[in-house]
Amino acid sequence: MYTMKEKVALVTGAGSGIGRTTAHKLASNGANVVVADMDLEAAEATVGEIAAAGGAATAQRCDVAQPSDVAALFAYIEDDLGGLDYAVNNAGIAPRATPIADYDLALLRRVMAVNVFGVFNCLQHEVRLMRRKGAGSIVNLSSIYGQVAKPGYAAYAASKHAVEGLTKSVALENAEHGIRVNCVRPAVVQTPLMTAKDLKVTPGTPEWVAYEQANPSKRAAQPGEIAAGILWLLSDEASFVSGGGVNLDGAYLAR
Ligand SMILES: NC(=O)c1ccc[n+]([C@@H]2O[C@H](COP(=O)([O-])OP(=O)(O)OC[C@H]3O[C@@H](n4cnc5c(N)ncnc54)[C@H](O)[C@@H]3O)[C@@H](O)[C@H]2O)c1
Repeated sequence: MYTMKEKVALVTGAGSGIGRTTAHKLASNGANVVVADMDLEAAEATVGEIAAAGGAATAQRCDVAQPSDVAALFAYIEDDLGGLDYAVNNAGIAPRATPIADYDLALLRRVMAVNVFGVFNCLQHEVRLMRRKGAGSIVNLSSIYGQVAKPGYAAYAASKHAVEGLTKSVALENAEHGIRVNCVRPAVVQTPLMTAKDLKVTPGTPEWVAYEQANPSKRAAQPGEIAAGILWLLSDEASFVSGGGVNLDGAYLAR
């Protein structure tokens, strides 16, 4: 358990998967959680679960690729909640593998708009609010593909490499202002992104088993294993950790 009482936490993309589980963990540690997602129903479902468990959370519809949505989200955080202590820039998309020559440029724009532009724009607002407090901790969702590549994932890998650059840049700019910025690098995690929405790989099928076998630990992670790393980075237990990334990957990047 961490001491997160009286703290305000934002999680983008918290209507599903890693974001939803991270929002649960923040609330169970006492934080007041802003559950933001472009899918309002999904965000409300997360909030309902948190409330049923005795936690505090509110749902906000926000497409992080839309600056007006992001501005409205942070106006709510500033005006209604009085500031921000923790932020998890988690909203992201991962389209199915496609060779670069065949990659649809409209899809490339969307990947960059959500995974890079959205994180950049949220970071701008987060830093502005946290500087006022003289403290804050931010975690960005990178990936193993923020460090290495895989055929067919040029757009996704480029977007996650960009997240790594953003993490270092914003950490350096804000270290003396008491704001820590880190990223996490999951390998395959069993979430709707993998199984239903983006990649559509059904657990148990040969394609899923191939993903599992490609990991040195021979399995996918569960969302809670990623959320645990994120919570530690957000917490005061990681008070001198900034500007880096934590591999949450079952040893994938050790090879
Ligand atoms: N699942 C994995 O294997 C895996 C591995 C490495 C990194 N990641 C990263 O973790 C993050 C979360 O992934 P997940 O697996 O939990 O995905 P998920 O699809 O289960 O959940 C993502 C949530 O983000 C929301 N979202 C998507 N685009 C948005 C936008 N423009 N604005 C606001 N919300 C938006 C979706 O509605 C959804 O609720 C992503 O950044 C992803 O790249 C996932």
